[in-house]
Amino acid sequence: MKVLIVGNGAREHAIAWKLTQSPGVSELLVAPGNAGTAQIARNVPIGATNIGSLLDFAKSESIEFTVVGPEVPLADGIVDRFQDEGLLIFGPSKAAARIESSKAFAKRLMTAHNIPTAKAETFSSMKDAQAHIEQCELPIVVKADGLAAGKGVLIARTREEAADALRRCMEQRAFGSAGDQVLVEEYLQGHEISVFAFVDGDYVSSIVAACDYKRVGDGDVGPNTGGMGSYSPPASSVWNRDLEAQVRRDILEPVVKALIAEDAYYRGVLYLGLMLTGTGPRVVEFNCRMGDPEAQVTLPRLKSDLLEIMLATAKGKLSGLDIQWEQRAVVGVVVASGGYPGSYPTGYEISGIDDLDDAIVFQAGTRQSDDGLTTLTDGGRVLTVTATGESHQEARRRVYENIDKIRFRDSFYRRDIGAGL
Ligand code: AMP
Ligand code: GLY
Repeated sequence: MKVLIVGNGAREHAIAWKLTQSPGVSELLVAPGNAGTAQIARNVPIGATNIGSLLDFAKSESIEFTVVGPEVPLADGIVDRFQDEGLLIFGPSKAAARIESSKAFAKRLMTAHNIPTAKAETFSSMKDAQAHIEQCELPIVVKADGLAAGKGVLIARTREEAADALRRCMEQRAFGSAGDQVLVEEYLQGHEISVFAFVDGDYVSSIVAACDYKRVGDGDVGPNTGGMGSYSPPASSVWNRDLEAQVRRDILEPVVKALIAEDAYYRGVLYLGLMLTGTGPRVVEFNCRMGDPEAQVTLPRLKSDLLEIMLATAKGKLSGLDIQWEQRAVVGVVVASGGYPGSYPTGYEISGIDDLDDAIVFQAGTRQSDDGLTTLTDGGRVLTVTATGESHQEARRRVYENIDKIRFRDSFYRRDIGAGL
Protein backbone atom coordinates (compact mmCIF):
# COMPACT_ATOMS: atom_id res chain seq x y z
CA MET A 1 0.00 0.00 0.00
CA LYS A 2 1.13 3.52 -0.78
CA VAL A 3 0.79 5.46 2.48
CA LEU A 4 0.98 9.23 3.12
CA ILE A 5 1.64 10.61 6.61
CA VAL A 6 0.64 14.23 7.27
CA GLY A 7 2.82 16.21 9.71
CA ASN A 8 6.44 17.07 10.45
CA GLY A 9 7.12 16.40 14.14
CA ALA A 10 8.90 13.65 16.02
CA ARG A 11 5.47 12.04 16.45
CA GLU A 12 5.18 11.72 12.66
CA HIS A 13 8.77 10.41 12.43
CA ALA A 14 7.83 7.76 15.02
CA ILE A 15 4.68 6.85 13.06
CA ALA A 16 6.76 6.60 9.87
CA TRP A 17 9.41 4.47 11.63
CA LYS A 18 6.73 2.08 12.91
CA LEU A 19 4.96 1.89 9.54
CA THR A 20 8.23 0.94 7.78
CA GLN A 21 8.00 -2.28 9.86
CA SER A 22 4.59 -3.13 8.35
CA PRO A 23 4.88 -5.58 5.44
CA GLY A 24 1.76 -4.01 3.90
CA VAL A 25 3.47 -0.68 3.25
CA SER A 26 5.03 -0.56 -0.22
CA GLU A 27 5.81 3.14 -0.31
CA LEU A 28 5.80 5.75 2.43
CA LEU A 29 5.47 9.51 1.90
CA VAL A 30 5.43 12.29 4.50
CA ALA A 31 4.04 15.80 3.99
CA PRO A 32 5.98 17.87 4.78
CA GLY A 33 8.20 15.67 6.99
CA ASN A 34 11.66 16.54 8.31
CA ALA A 35 15.27 15.42 7.83
CA GLY A 36 14.56 12.23 9.82
CA THR A 37 11.53 11.16 7.78
CA ALA A 38 13.54 11.89 4.61
CA GLN A 39 15.82 8.97 5.51
CA ILE A 40 13.01 6.40 5.64
CA ALA A 41 10.32 7.88 3.41
CA ARG A 42 9.81 10.40 0.61
CA ASN A 43 9.13 13.91 1.85
CA VAL A 44 6.57 15.94 -0.04
CA PRO A 45 6.78 19.73 0.35
CA ILE A 46 3.13 20.37 1.27
CA GLY A 47 2.24 21.84 4.68
CA ALA A 48 0.12 19.77 7.06
CA THR A 49 -2.69 22.34 7.07
CA ASN A 50 -2.87 22.75 3.29
CA ILE A 51 -5.79 20.37 2.88
CA GLY A 52 -6.61 21.23 -0.73
CA SER A 53 -3.07 20.54 -1.93
CA LEU A 54 -2.82 17.37 0.16
CA LEU A 55 -6.04 16.12 -1.41
CA ASP A 56 -4.85 16.93 -4.97
CA PHE A 57 -1.55 15.22 -4.23
CA ALA A 58 -3.19 12.11 -2.75
CA LYS A 59 -5.37 11.77 -5.87
CA SER A 60 -2.62 12.43 -8.41
CA GLU A 61 -0.17 10.05 -6.65
CA SER A 62 -2.82 7.35 -6.07
CA ILE A 63 -2.23 7.35 -2.30
CA GLU A 64 -4.16 4.40 -0.85
CA PHE A 65 -4.13 5.43 2.80
CA THR A 66 -3.44 8.74 4.57
CA VAL A 67 -2.50 9.02 8.26
CA VAL A 68 -2.95 12.41 9.93
CA GLY A 69 -0.62 13.27 12.84
CA PRO A 70 -1.49 16.77 14.14
CA GLU A 71 -4.77 18.23 15.39
CA VAL A 72 -5.10 21.33 13.20
CA PRO A 73 -5.90 19.58 9.89
CA LEU A 74 -8.23 17.20 11.77
CA ALA A 75 -10.10 20.13 13.34
CA ASP A 76 -10.24 21.73 9.88
CA GLY A 77 -11.96 18.66 8.43
CA ILE A 78 -9.21 16.91 6.41
CA VAL A 79 -10.86 13.54 7.07
CA ASP A 80 -14.26 14.67 5.76
CA ARG A 81 -12.66 16.17 2.63
CA PHE A 82 -10.70 12.97 1.84
CA GLN A 83 -13.71 10.74 2.54
CA ASP A 84 -15.93 12.88 0.29
CA GLU A 85 -13.52 11.99 -2.53
CA GLY A 86 -13.61 8.30 -1.61
CA LEU A 87 -10.12 8.24 -0.10
CA LEU A 88 -9.22 6.13 2.94
CA ILE A 89 -7.81 8.20 5.81
CA PHE A 90 -6.91 7.69 9.49
CA GLY A 91 -8.27 10.22 11.98
CA PRO A 92 -11.54 11.60 13.32
CA SER A 93 -13.98 13.71 11.30
CA LYS A 94 -14.26 17.43 11.96
CA ALA A 95 -17.35 16.81 14.12
CA ALA A 96 -15.57 14.16 16.22
CA ALA A 97 -12.37 16.24 16.46
CA ARG A 98 -14.39 18.87 18.37
CA ILE A 99 -13.55 16.77 21.40
CA GLU A 100 -10.17 18.57 21.19
CA SER A 101 -10.96 21.68 19.14
CA SER A 102 -13.67 22.90 21.50
CA LYS A 103 -13.13 22.51 25.22
CA ALA A 104 -16.68 23.82 25.74
CA PHE A 105 -18.04 20.99 23.57
CA ALA A 106 -15.94 18.39 25.41
CA LYS A 107 -17.04 19.73 28.78
CA ARG A 108 -20.70 19.73 27.80
CA LEU A 109 -20.40 16.12 26.59
CA MET A 110 -18.70 15.01 29.81
CA THR A 111 -21.19 16.80 32.04
CA ALA A 112 -24.18 15.40 30.16
CA HIS A 113 -22.83 11.84 30.38
CA ASN A 114 -21.43 11.88 33.92
CA ILE A 115 -17.82 11.48 32.80
CA PRO A 116 -15.55 12.54 35.67
CA THR A 117 -13.86 15.89 34.98
CA ALA A 118 -13.14 19.24 36.62
CA LYS A 119 -16.25 21.34 37.24
CA ALA A 120 -16.34 24.26 34.82
CA GLU A 121 -18.48 27.08 33.51
CA THR A 122 -18.28 28.34 29.94
CA PHE A 123 -18.56 32.05 29.11
CA SER A 124 -18.77 34.13 25.97
CA SER A 125 -19.20 37.39 27.88
CA MET A 126 -16.21 38.93 29.63
CA LYS A 127 -18.45 40.56 32.24
CA ASP A 128 -20.12 37.30 33.24
CA ALA A 129 -16.75 35.51 33.42
CA GLN A 130 -15.32 38.28 35.60
CA ALA A 131 -18.29 38.10 37.96
CA HIS A 132 -17.87 34.33 38.17
CA ILE A 133 -14.18 34.36 39.11
CA GLU A 134 -15.01 36.54 42.12
CA GLN A 135 -16.76 33.52 43.63
CA CYS A 136 -14.35 30.74 42.58
CA GLU A 137 -11.99 28.97 44.91
CA LEU A 138 -8.30 29.49 44.19
CA PRO A 139 -6.36 28.43 42.17
CA ILE A 140 -8.63 29.04 39.17
CA VAL A 141 -8.00 27.45 35.78
CA VAL A 142 -8.83 29.70 32.79
CA LYS A 143 -8.94 28.03 29.36
CA ALA A 144 -9.51 29.30 25.86
CA ASP A 145 -12.17 27.15 24.20
CA GLY A 146 -10.36 26.47 20.91
CA LEU A 147 -6.98 25.22 19.70
CA ALA A 148 -4.07 27.28 21.04
CA ALA A 149 -1.05 24.98 20.61
CA GLY A 150 -1.01 24.14 24.32
CA LYS A 151 -0.80 27.82 25.34
CA GLY A 152 -4.46 28.51 26.01
CA VAL A 153 -4.53 27.33 29.64
CA LEU A 154 -3.62 29.47 32.65
CA ILE A 155 -3.58 28.27 36.23
CA ALA A 156 -4.24 31.44 38.22
CA ARG A 157 -3.11 31.58 41.85
CA THR A 158 -4.93 34.90 42.43
CA ARG A 159 -8.13 36.48 41.14
CA GLU A 160 -6.04 39.23 39.51
CA GLU A 161 -4.14 36.61 37.50
CA ALA A 162 -7.44 35.00 36.49
CA ALA A 163 -8.82 38.39 35.42
CA ASP A 164 -5.64 39.03 33.39
CA ALA A 165 -6.05 35.67 31.67
CA LEU A 166 -9.65 36.52 30.78
CA ARG A 167 -8.56 39.87 29.33
CA ARG A 168 -5.78 38.25 27.31
CA CYS A 169 -8.23 35.74 25.84
CA MET A 170 -11.35 37.81 25.36
CA GLU A 171 -10.20 41.42 24.95
CA GLN A 172 -6.67 41.19 23.55
CA ARG A 173 -7.65 38.04 21.63
CA ALA A 174 -4.23 36.44 22.22
CA PHE A 175 -5.57 33.18 20.78
CA GLY A 176 -7.80 34.73 18.10
CA SER A 177 -11.24 33.15 17.79
CA ALA A 178 -10.08 30.24 19.99
CA GLY A 179 -10.67 32.65 22.90
CA ASP A 180 -14.21 33.74 21.93
CA GLN A 181 -15.41 31.43 24.67
CA VAL A 182 -13.53 30.66 27.87
CA LEU A 183 -13.90 27.97 30.47
CA VAL A 184 -13.35 28.80 34.09
CA GLU A 185 -12.50 25.54 35.74
CA GLU A 186 -11.85 23.89 39.08
CA TYR A 187 -8.18 23.14 39.76
CA LEU A 188 -7.40 19.42 39.95
CA GLN A 189 -4.54 18.07 41.99
CA GLY A 190 -2.80 14.78 41.37
CA HIS A 191 -0.55 12.81 39.06
CA GLU A 192 -1.17 13.59 35.38
CA ILE A 193 -1.04 10.80 32.79
CA SER A 194 -1.77 10.51 29.09
CA VAL A 195 -3.90 7.56 27.99
CA PHE A 196 -4.38 6.41 24.39
CA ALA A 197 -6.74 4.04 22.64
CA PHE A 198 -7.63 3.34 19.04
CA VAL A 199 -11.36 3.87 18.48
CA ASP A 200 -13.15 2.70 15.32
CA GLY A 201 -16.50 4.42 15.78
CA ASP A 202 -17.74 2.31 18.65
CA TYR A 203 -15.03 -0.17 19.66
CA VAL A 204 -12.23 0.89 22.01
CA SER A 205 -8.90 -0.97 21.69
CA SER A 206 -6.52 -1.96 24.47
CA ILE A 207 -5.11 1.09 26.21
CA VAL A 208 -1.54 2.38 26.45
CA ALA A 209 -0.45 5.09 28.89
CA ALA A 210 2.50 7.45 29.25
CA CYS A 211 3.66 10.42 31.32
CA ASP A 212 4.64 13.71 29.75
CA TYR A 213 6.77 16.59 31.10
CA LYS A 214 5.23 19.87 29.97
CA ARG A 215 7.38 22.46 31.75
CA VAL A 216 10.64 23.56 30.17
CA GLY A 217 12.91 23.19 33.20
CA ASP A 218 14.15 20.42 35.50
CA GLY A 219 11.87 19.94 38.51
CA ASP A 220 8.86 21.17 36.48
CA VAL A 221 9.71 24.85 36.52
CA GLY A 222 9.38 27.52 33.83
CA PRO A 223 6.86 27.96 31.04
CA ASN A 224 4.78 25.22 29.42
CA THR A 225 6.08 23.63 26.22
CA GLY A 226 4.74 21.11 23.73
CA GLY A 227 6.43 18.45 25.94
CA MET A 228 10.09 18.01 26.94
CA GLY A 229 10.14 14.28 27.55
CA SER A 230 8.03 11.27 28.30
CA TYR A 231 8.05 7.69 29.47
CA SER A 232 5.78 4.70 29.08
CA PRO A 233 4.29 2.89 30.91
CA PRO A 234 3.62 5.09 33.96
CA ALA A 235 4.95 3.69 37.26
CA SER A 236 3.00 0.65 38.48
CA SER A 237 2.14 2.62 41.63
CA VAL A 238 -0.04 4.97 39.55
CA TRP A 239 -1.16 2.88 36.56
CA ASN A 240 -2.39 -0.72 36.81
CA ARG A 241 -4.99 -3.08 35.35
CA ASP A 242 -7.74 -2.00 37.74
CA LEU A 243 -7.30 1.65 36.88
CA GLU A 244 -7.14 0.78 33.18
CA ALA A 245 -10.47 -1.07 33.49
CA GLN A 246 -11.97 1.87 35.37
CA VAL A 247 -10.80 4.39 32.73
CA ARG A 248 -12.27 2.23 29.97
CA ARG A 249 -15.61 1.75 31.77
CA ASP A 250 -16.08 5.26 33.21
CA ILE A 251 -14.47 7.44 30.55
CA LEU A 252 -13.51 5.90 27.21
CA GLU A 253 -16.61 3.82 26.49
CA PRO A 254 -19.06 6.49 27.69
CA VAL A 255 -17.38 9.26 25.66
CA VAL A 256 -17.40 7.16 22.49
CA LYS A 257 -21.14 6.47 23.03
CA ALA A 258 -21.75 10.15 23.75
CA LEU A 259 -20.09 11.05 20.44
CA ILE A 260 -22.26 8.54 18.59
CA ALA A 261 -25.31 10.24 20.11
CA GLU A 262 -23.98 13.51 18.59
CA ASP A 263 -23.68 11.77 15.18
CA ALA A 264 -19.91 12.08 15.45
CA TYR A 265 -18.40 8.62 15.05
CA TYR A 266 -14.89 8.85 16.45
CA ARG A 267 -12.31 7.02 14.35
CA GLY A 268 -8.64 7.42 15.23
CA VAL A 269 -6.51 7.64 18.33
CA LEU A 270 -8.34 9.11 21.29
CA TYR A 271 -6.02 10.74 23.82
CA LEU A 272 -7.18 11.36 27.38
CA GLY A 273 -5.24 13.74 29.59
CA LEU A 274 -6.14 12.42 33.03
CA MET A 275 -5.54 13.72 36.51
CA LEU A 276 -5.34 10.90 39.05
CA THR A 277 -6.98 12.69 41.95
CA GLY A 278 -7.78 11.50 45.47
CA THR A 279 -11.31 10.75 44.24
CA GLY A 280 -10.27 8.85 41.11
CA PRO A 281 -9.22 9.66 37.56
CA ARG A 282 -10.71 12.83 36.07
CA VAL A 283 -10.41 14.16 32.54
CA VAL A 284 -8.26 17.28 32.08
CA GLU A 285 -8.59 17.26 28.31
CA PHE A 286 -9.27 15.12 25.27
CA ASN A 287 -7.07 15.21 22.19
CA CYS A 288 -7.98 13.80 18.80
CA ARG A 289 -4.54 12.35 17.92
CA MET A 290 -1.43 10.77 19.39
CA GLY A 291 0.60 12.84 21.85
CA ASP A 292 3.97 14.33 21.11
CA PRO A 293 6.32 13.23 22.79
CA GLU A 294 4.08 10.36 23.96
CA ALA A 295 4.00 8.73 20.49
CA GLN A 296 7.80 8.49 20.60
CA VAL A 297 7.64 6.34 23.76
CA THR A 298 4.47 4.34 23.10
CA LEU A 299 4.97 3.29 19.45
CA PRO A 300 8.27 1.51 20.28
CA ARG A 301 6.22 -0.60 22.74
CA LEU A 302 3.67 -1.63 20.08
CA LYS A 303 4.17 -5.30 19.15
CA SER A 304 1.31 -5.41 16.63
CA ASP A 305 1.31 -4.20 13.03
CA LEU A 306 0.51 -0.45 13.03
CA LEU A 307 -0.77 -0.42 9.43
CA GLU A 308 -3.26 -3.20 10.20
CA ILE A 309 -4.46 -1.36 13.30
CA MET A 310 -4.83 1.96 11.51
CA LEU A 311 -6.65 0.40 8.57
CA ALA A 312 -9.01 -1.50 10.87
CA THR A 313 -9.65 1.73 12.81
CA ALA A 314 -10.42 3.71 9.67
CA LYS A 315 -12.72 0.96 8.35
CA GLY A 316 -14.58 0.38 11.63
CA LYS A 317 -13.21 -3.17 11.98
CA LEU A 318 -11.06 -2.94 15.09
CA SER A 319 -12.93 -5.38 17.31
CA GLY A 320 -11.32 -8.42 15.69
CA LEU A 321 -7.76 -7.22 16.32
CA ASP A 322 -5.65 -8.04 19.35
CA ILE A 323 -3.35 -5.06 19.96
CA GLN A 324 -0.30 -5.99 22.05
CA TRP A 325 2.05 -3.68 23.93
CA GLU A 326 5.46 -4.72 25.23
CA GLN A 327 5.95 -4.68 28.97
CA ARG A 328 9.37 -3.07 28.63
CA ALA A 329 9.84 0.61 29.48
CA VAL A 330 10.65 3.39 27.02
CA VAL A 331 12.01 6.82 27.98
CA GLY A 332 12.23 9.76 25.55
CA VAL A 333 14.00 13.07 26.08
CA VAL A 334 13.47 16.08 23.82
CA VAL A 335 16.50 18.10 22.75
CA ALA A 336 15.46 21.70 22.07
CA SER A 337 16.87 24.92 20.61
CA GLY A 338 18.16 27.46 23.15
CA GLY A 339 15.34 29.97 23.73
CA TYR A 340 12.46 27.51 23.25
CA PRO A 341 9.52 27.82 24.09
CA GLY A 342 10.23 31.50 23.38
CA SER A 343 11.99 32.59 20.19
CA TYR A 344 15.16 30.87 18.97
CA PRO A 345 17.39 30.92 15.91
CA THR A 346 17.49 27.94 13.51
CA GLY A 347 19.87 26.65 10.86
CA TYR A 348 22.53 25.26 13.23
CA GLU A 349 24.38 22.13 12.14
CA ILE A 350 23.51 18.99 14.14
CA SER A 351 26.19 16.35 14.64
CA GLY A 352 26.16 12.88 16.18
CA ILE A 353 22.64 11.73 15.26
CA ASP A 354 24.03 8.56 13.68
CA ASP A 355 26.44 7.74 16.54
CA LEU A 356 23.98 6.36 19.09
CA ASP A 357 24.04 2.87 20.65
CA ASP A 358 20.79 1.19 21.68
CA ALA A 359 18.84 4.40 21.26
CA ILE A 360 16.59 5.80 18.54
CA VAL A 361 16.30 9.41 17.46
CA PHE A 362 12.95 10.75 16.26
CA GLN A 363 13.53 14.07 14.53
CA ALA A 364 11.21 17.07 14.64
CA GLY A 365 12.57 20.55 13.88
CA THR A 366 15.27 19.44 11.43
CA ARG A 367 15.99 19.84 7.72
CA GLN A 368 18.67 18.82 5.30
CA SER A 369 21.09 21.51 4.14
CA ASP A 370 20.69 22.49 0.48
CA ASP A 371 23.66 20.32 -0.52
CA GLY A 372 22.10 17.42 1.40
CA LEU A 373 25.26 16.83 3.40
CA THR A 374 24.28 18.05 6.84
CA THR A 375 21.25 18.13 9.11
CA LEU A 376 20.26 21.57 10.40
CA THR A 377 18.01 22.72 13.23
CA ASP A 378 14.66 24.00 11.99
CA GLY A 379 12.41 24.32 15.04
CA GLY A 380 12.09 24.59 18.82
CA ARG A 381 11.81 20.93 19.69
CA VAL A 382 14.57 19.55 17.46
CA LEU A 383 14.47 15.82 18.19
CA THR A 384 13.58 13.15 20.76
CA VAL A 385 16.15 10.57 21.90
CA THR A 386 14.43 7.36 23.04
CA ALA A 387 15.64 4.09 24.50
CA THR A 388 14.00 0.90 25.71
CA GLY A 389 14.93 -1.08 28.81
CA GLU A 390 13.80 -3.85 31.15
CA SER A 391 13.14 -1.05 33.65
CA HIS A 392 12.59 2.69 33.45
CA GLN A 393 16.02 3.17 35.04
CA GLU A 394 17.71 1.11 32.33
CA ALA A 395 15.88 2.96 29.53
CA ARG A 396 16.67 6.30 31.16
CA ARG A 397 20.36 5.42 31.54
CA ARG A 398 20.57 4.52 27.84
CA VAL A 399 19.00 7.81 26.78
CA TYR A 400 21.31 9.93 28.90
CA GLU A 401 24.41 7.91 27.90
CA ASN A 402 23.63 8.78 24.30
CA ILE A 403 22.15 12.24 24.37
CA ASP A 404 25.42 14.21 24.67
CA LYS A 405 26.67 12.64 21.44
CA ILE A 406 24.12 14.84 19.66
CA ARG A 407 25.39 18.38 19.44
CA PHE A 408 24.23 21.67 18.05
CA ARG A 409 24.72 25.24 19.17
CA ASP A 410 22.74 26.25 22.29
CA SER A 411 20.95 22.90 22.55
CA PHE A 412 19.37 21.93 25.85
CA TYR A 413 17.30 19.16 27.39
CA ARG A 414 15.80 18.24 30.74
CA ARG A 415 17.95 15.98 32.89
CA ASP A 416 15.17 14.61 35.07
CA ILE A 417 12.97 12.73 32.58
CA GLY A 418 12.04 9.38 34.14
CA ALA A 419 13.98 10.17 37.33
CA GLY A 420 12.81 8.77 40.64
CA LEU A 421 10.85 5.83 39.18
P1 AMP B 1 -4.95 21.31 28.51
O1 AMP B 1 -4.55 22.06 27.28
O2 AMP B 1 -6.41 21.40 28.87
O3 AMP B 1 -4.39 19.95 28.58
O4 AMP B 1 -4.13 22.01 29.72
C1 AMP B 1 -2.74 22.08 29.70
C2 AMP B 1 -2.21 21.65 31.04
O5 AMP B 1 -2.71 22.48 32.08
C3 AMP B 1 -2.64 20.24 31.44
O6 AMP B 1 -1.83 19.26 30.88
C4 AMP B 1 -2.53 20.31 32.95
O7 AMP B 1 -1.19 20.08 33.36
C5 AMP B 1 -2.93 21.73 33.25
N1 AMP B 1 -4.36 21.76 33.58
C6 AMP B 1 -5.38 21.95 32.73
N2 AMP B 1 -6.57 21.92 33.38
C7 AMP B 1 -6.30 21.73 34.68
C8 AMP B 1 -7.10 21.61 35.86
N3 AMP B 1 -8.42 21.70 35.82
N4 AMP B 1 -6.45 21.41 37.02
C9 AMP B 1 -5.11 21.34 37.08
N5 AMP B 1 -4.31 21.43 36.00
C10 AMP B 1 -4.87 21.63 34.81
N1 GLY C 1 2.18 15.94 24.85
C1 GLY C 1 1.04 16.75 24.82
C2 GLY C 1 0.31 16.74 23.55
O1 GLY C 1 0.66 16.06 22.61
O2 GLY C 1 -0.69 17.44 23.47
